[in-house]
Amino acid sequence: MAKRGTCRCWVALLLLQAISLHFGLDFAKRVGMPRRPKSNPRARDRAASLLQVDSPESIPTTRSWNRAPAKSLRLPADKGCCSFRVKRHWRWRQMIEEPLGVYEFCNSTGPPRFHAIFASAPGEEEFLGCFRTPRDAAVAWDRRARRAEWPVLNFPVDGEEEGPTLLQDRFTFYRSKGFPYPPTSAAWRRNQLQDLLKLNVTGVWRSQWMLQLDDLQRSPGDELCWSFHPHSFAVSKTKGANKEMGPVKKPSALETFSSNAGLMKSLRTCLERCGDPACSPETLRGECKFHDDSMIFQGGGSWIANFPATVAAAIYQRFAPGGVVYDACAGWGGRLLGARLGGVRKYIACEPSSKTFAGLEELSNLLSPLEVELHRCGSEDFDVEEEVDVAFTSPPYFNTEWYSDERTQSHVRFPTVEAWRNGFLQPMLAKMVTALRPGGHLILSVTTRRAHRRSGLDLEGDVHQIVEELGLVQEPTLTMLKTGTDNGRKGRPIFVWKKAAG
Ligand SMILES: C[S@@+](CC[C@H](N)C(=O)[O-])C[C@H]1O[C@@H](n2cnc3c(N)ncnc32)[C@H](O)[C@@H]1O
Repeated sequence: MAKRGTCRCWVALLLLQAISLHFGLDFAKRVGMPRRPKSNPRARDRAASLLQVDSPESIPTTRSWNRAPAKSLRLPADKGCCSFRVKRHWRWRQMIEEPLGVYEFCNSTGPPRFHAIFASAPGEEEFLGCFRTPRDAAVAWDRRARRAEWPVLNFPVDGEEEGPTLLQDRFTFYRSKGFPYPPTSAAWRRNQLQDLLKLNVTGVWRSQWMLQLDDLQRSPGDELCWSFHPHSFAVSKTKGANKEMGPVKKPSALETFSSNAGLMKSLRTCLERCGDPACSPETLRGECKFHDDSMIFQGGGSWIANFPATVAAAIYQRFAPGGVVYDACAGWGGRLLGARLGGVRKYIACEPSSKTFAGLEELSNLLSPLEVELHRCGSEDFDVEEEVDVAFTSPPYFNTEWYSDERTQSHVRFPTVEAWRNGFLQPMLAKMVTALRPGGHLILSVTTRRAHRRSGLDLEGDVHQIVEELGLVQEPTLTMLKTGTDNGRKGRPIFVWKKAAG
């Protein structure tokens, strides 16, 4: 009985996929040849101004470090005609055929209404009104977009001729250019570091135990770190360990970019959520990580995060000023970069993934006078040879992020939660504690999410139990908060323990 139900589910899903594929091909034909304006100089100039940008490095970035994109588009409470939430997941047809910035609202007492909402800048939305047809809403949106000098529009307004839409224009541009990897030139990297060194990292402390950032998911230094790890865009998150089928991988940013639906959805949110009319490479990279284009566009994609370098720097400044630190799972380099920004003398770390290790080595060459000692191995096997002031890391969460298939990856070597806890987590923590000088601090960025619990993983609980057994004394937990959030419970915890002195 159950088998028959599963079978039906699969047939339905396959049907859905076939339908979206059909529309996808149809759409690809259309966006492959965007129509150019014939005689409207204004529209042509705008299109040209976008198309002449030929290298990702030369596309201006409208996002700035201290401005976050709007999380969700909501109807302003005082202006709307009903209180329903704006749709965040477009259906395939809507995504292609509905004009930008137009959201359908179901009105329980009448026909659907169309709201025009304009993202004038990251996080700044303007409600333009409630309309009976999507076209009316789009025209209102277009008029507003012209005032902001956005280049190519949904519809010609005020007697203009039709031109390519901004969405088509950006789609064609990125299809011909390929994935917008971060720049890799030595000059760009040096400039990024120079800018970062000017930041006042102490400003990240909001109170004694709270650290705050404008955006926890994109923070200063991330772009520099990603520049050394192009393979990070091929990393998938998993949907949790399915007991029979094993973990199901979500599409990576690269896979999302490669599919027409994924790229289209990512470009739409660059424009509509982030208010970035150029769809800069930086914004698009982020949006491709957010989305899951599979099936019916539900759920998130593979948001692979780097530990914020400025937060790491502030922590090092407080707990290991000018000292020696050990990072058992170096990852994307946020803590390595943070060590340089925070004035650490020596950074020792393990990273078993060969590609990530190579990226970290390259990054470390930029960070003189910081002394860097990197080891390409699993930290469960590594004994630190000198005493350290701080042992600070963010370990992998078993198999929730699929960094590589190499055997040295903790989840590949220890494929069950129990084996992973005993074979990786416990020895890694024990070796971190051994490396600490008396009075030194163990600092861990870990959380347990509902999805982890469902697959039998309670990282927070396990870490607390193991560290307690190792005899360390817990200190107040640090919280990493987004600016404007007052509720400490919404922050991400960073746990701190102290090794007894002497
Ligand atoms: C990327 S970090 C976790 C993400 C985190 N936000 C960060 O960058 O700080 C986890 C890292 O642990 C590494 N890793 C996997 N198995 C490991 C092991 N046995 N020992 C040490 N590191 C390991 C992975 O290759 C990955 O780079």
